[in-house]
Amino acid sequence: MPIKIAPSILTADFGRLAAEIATAEDAGADWIHLDVMDGHFVPNITIGPLVAAAVRTATRLPLDAHLMIADPDRYIQPFRDAGVDSITVHAETCVHLHRTLQSIRAAGARAGVALNPATPLDAVKEVVQDLDVLLIMSVNPGFGGQRFIERSLDKIRAAREMLNDFGSPTAELQVDGGVSNATIASVVRAGASVVVAGSAVFNQSGSVASNIDGLRQAAASTPQ
Ligand code: DX5
Ligand code: ZN
Repeated sequence: MPIKIAPSILTADFGRLAAEIATAEDAGADWIHLDVMDGHFVPNITIGPLVAAAVRTATRLPLDAHLMIADPDRYIQPFRDAGVDSITVHAETCVHLHRTLQSIRAAGARAGVALNPATPLDAVKEVVQDLDVLLIMSVNPGFGGQRFIERSLDKIRAAREMLNDFGSPTAELQVDGGVSNATIASVVRAGASVVVAGSAVFNQSGSVASNIDGLRQAAASTPQ
């Protein structure tokens, strides 16, 4: 299966967001990744359901909401109403993770769990069959443009084994943070099926189309 690329709009030009997203869609992006931050679970504040609904009108691609927020249960329905297709919560924010995943599926979205770099894979062991997306963070959440944490590769490999052995056959293994032309091949080799890329897609040094092409080529090459 070819790797799916999910551009994060975090480093896009928000003044012309619809055009940025259309360019990514035309360039073959697979999902659009929405980084939702609350200034509480993470230091940064970004977007809410209002902007997600505006993004919904700009693309037909699946919208992937990554909730880096405290008490995410309160926002499942508002994001679903905004038209997102998958909702990923952080295990670190959920006291009743199993219930939260059931609520996301009951709302009609694909259910995802994200793990911070310091959170062991064991945190999702008991809910692996309830997951549609397992998101391994390869940076600490909060900001785009950070350096890929190399140790994440072992965790991605272990996550791939866990999903193969016990997960739903359609579950995606997503990796988020520091994915670039230099790191994407190792991430794919380790077993990721979806990569998020923010600053590697929306930046000043290349067009969105050439950046996505570059990532696809690098993904197919030998890891650096
Ligand atoms: C980090 C976010 C990421 C980030 C990715 O908190 O979850 O999605 O925007 O940005 P890059 O690809 O620049 O690391
Ligand atoms: Zn993200």
